[in-house]
Amino acid sequence: FSDSASGLGIGNELAYPPRHRTTCRVHHVIRLKPKHESHLQLLKSLKNKHGEQMEFWRKPTIPLQDVDVRLSPEVIPGILPLLNESGLLYDVMTDDLESLVSAERPKRSVADVVDVTESPDNFSLSSYHTYDEISDWMDGLIDKCKPDCDVFSIGDTYEGRPMKIIRIGKESVRRPVIWIDAGIHAREWIAPATAIYIISKLIDPDKSDRIARVLASRYTWYILPVANPDGYDYTWTMDRLWRKTRSHHKYSPCRGVDGNRNWDFHWGGEGTSDLPCNEDYRGDEPFSEPETRNIARLVFDEFLLTLQGRLAVYLSLHSYGQYWLTPWGYTYNVPPDYPDLVHLGTKATEAMRRTHGSRYQVGSSARILYLAAGGSDDWAKGVLGVKYSYTVELCDTGRHGFILPPHYITTTGDEMLEATRSLSLSVLRER
Ligand code: ARG
Ligand code: ZN
Repeated sequence: FSDSASGLGIGNELAYPPRHRTTCRVHHVIRLKPKHESHLQLLKSLKNKHGEQMEFWRKPTIPLQDVDVRLSPEVIPGILPLLNESGLLYDVMTDDLESLVSAERPKRSVADVVDVTESPDNFSLSSYHTYDEISDWMDGLIDKCKPDCDVFSIGDTYEGRPMKIIRIGKESVRRPVIWIDAGIHAREWIAPATAIYIISKLIDPDKSDRIARVLASRYTWYILPVANPDGYDYTWTMDRLWRKTRSHHKYSPCRGVDGNRNWDFHWGGEGTSDLPCNEDYRGDEPFSEPETRNIARLVFDEFLLTLQGRLAVYLSLHSYGQYWLTPWGYTYNVPPDYPDLVHLGTKATEAMRRTHGSRYQVGSSARILYLAAGGSDDWAKGVLGVKYSYTVELCDTGRHGFILPPHYITTTGDEMLEATRSLSLSVLRER
């Protein structure tokens, strides 16, 4: 049984760096334009037939909504002609996913390997980093920012890695809290990279950035840049497209749980699977995963039991698609204060647009993306009562998808910093 769903991994024929690179041996990502129900049926039956060889990156939902699919080399010659015959139009987003994967990795020579704990300034904000590097970098920040910040572990992952979080800004019962987590889905590398960017700009604002200082002085920030360290590490070493955690299951050889279907609010509802081999496996009970449990415990102890209502903003960073999502994910209904959420979300995405031109769509997860229950944003709003709870699907809109080249990190970081700034200033005004 293959542990690596996509086969895009090390220790494998399609490993990084790609050993065989003839055009017929590589993965494609295609974007389909289903016109009617029959096209959706065709896609679902192809998926049933081909299993892991065909993976939806954007699921088929309704006609006229684009669908993104990764196709393994073996199935391409069979599938493309069938699509043509049925009149299902598609664009090839990439016909060589492997070369995107290898371009994404920093080319390190021995001379580049620096000890980031010695000097956090040696940590590059424009490349992707392994979990160990991120973790060392965070430890190195302590000296730099104390006493107004702290770095600590909120508990261990399934495989025993400490989950490092940073608090920025004084801890005071009167200060509102902004929470940011990223990387609950392992392969969405731009999310941790963006969280890291935000951390570094809050701790060490650019000389001209007066507002960043204000933000760090008016709020307490809690930022968890890698919410799924085991999965993240696995994407570096074994399978670049791994999404879930890495836990074992009693009755299945497949591993991992979708960390964003595991929260205890409408757990088990629409858009979740009870099959451990599926990408949206919800786990066998809510909070089955140490990763989600550690976050929930911290949030409960720190902000809820001590001071109700302190948590002003909850942001969870994902990729890709450029969506600014509000609750609910479990139902097409929207919360009563939906207009407020859309209002501030729209302002935040306008700030992003002004920064580098990216356009984001704003709306409820279920309505503009798909139904998916047991998500952290729904839990933050539904259980904790956090008013401004959002999930942000960062860059891009699908040209590179999960394998976003590293030169996008600083632009995405700038945009998200501006969005966060807009949001936090709006919230301050309301308080
Ligand atoms: N792409 C994200 C996921 O599949 C979207 C989550 C949106 N929030 C939600 N509660 N469904 O997890
Ligand atoms: Zn995600």
